[in-house]
Amino acid sequence: MKLVSVVGARPQFVKLAPIARASAQAGIDHIIVHTGQHYDALLSDVFFDDLKIPAPDFTLGVGSGTHGRQTGAMLAGLDEVFEDVRPDVVLAYGDTNSTLAAAVSAVKMGIGLAHLEAGLRSFNRRMPEEHNRVLTDHASDLLLAPTLTAVEHLRREGLAEKTEFVGDVMTDVLLEVAQSAASDSAALLDHYAVRPGEYYVATIHRSENTDDPERLTKIVSGLAAAPLPVLLLTHPRLKAKADAFGIDLQQSAVRVHEPAAYPQLVGLAREAKGVITDSGGLQKEAFLLRTPCTTVRTETEWVETVDLGWNTLVADPADLSAALARPAPEPTEATPYGDGHAAESVVDVLQRRFGG
Ligand code: UD1
Repeated sequence: MKLVSVVGARPQFVKLAPIARASAQAGIDHIIVHTGQHYDALLSDVFFDDLKIPAPDFTLGVGSGTHGRQTGAMLAGLDEVFEDVRPDVVLAYGDTNSTLAAAVSAVKMGIGLAHLEAGLRSFNRRMPEEHNRVLTDHASDLLLAPTLTAVEHLRREGLAEKTEFVGDVMTDVLLEVAQSAASDSAALLDHYAVRPGEYYVATIHRSENTDDPERLTKIVSGLAAAPLPVLLLTHPRLKAKADAFGIDLQQSAVRVHEPAAYPQLVGLAREAKGVITDSGGLQKEAFLLRTPCTTVRTETEWVETVDLGWNTLVADPADLSAALARPAPEPTEATPYGDGHAAESVVDVLQRRFGG
């Protein structure tokens, strides 16, 4: 079977790692296409290196731009790659513009399309990710759902027959990296000059939070008022918007740092008093590491983290201080995100459906 994975943005590289490994083990001809949506070394190369992902077979180098320009450039590039490779199936990951481009190009060329992380919904149509995931789900031949909540969303949209419940591949990566990162904690915390349980890790990058100067100012003030140091790992979008709006990120409790590589992020999140984020992946990683998470958004796709008490949504950044002061959550043994073997299930299903 010839499988093409299309990735382009940071969280997709994390998801690709276990898929690349499971495909190799199954003897699948796996071709990796990197759209170039993320091109900074700290958002791209370090993930390939640290997670031992084979170098991409094709790199489109589209870079940044408006949604239309960026997605359009990807479509043009992908058409050529798919024409050249003629895969049995294209695998699209998550909810970025690279996901949507992979979906549109594959269906237009009559190539089988599978969507990894299908069925997630925020029901917030102001998010670009929500358009990307809904459109991709409805274009796909196979929907690989990470949670039972996602399975239910797909059923309600009439997509049950195309759905397979496989678990969450991010759990596969997290569990493995968390084990090997265990020994390096002390050096890592020394590097960031913090002590276990006495700091927060924060990431803010979503357009709903970064692109409105008033909201971004309130978020930074909320972080600055935290009772412990806040390691703010700054995505380039946050930095660019803060510079453009004249907002100083380095205020009171906030310590500004570059984005962290994956093993370092896992180590920092595990030892932190709490995580403050608007990232989807990090909410789940915090839960798997049993670090309380505060999510600066009006809703989350990963509702299990909230239902189990380990994640709190903060719609108004003025409520951040109160959220950070809440009591520690009840311990739980729940495993809504699978057992760390989702990638093997994904590869099994792909072979069954597209292996000929
Ligand atoms: C994208 C995804 C988002 C995902 C995030 C992970 C979409 C619509 N959004 O958002 O779902 O959570 O990736 O990080 O696809 N930039 C750089 N260097 C880079 C890449 C981007 O400096 O390597 C800057 C540019 O100023 C760019 C901005 O970041 O305009 C936004 O990048 P873009 O790829 O458009 O979206 P993300 O915000 O990264």
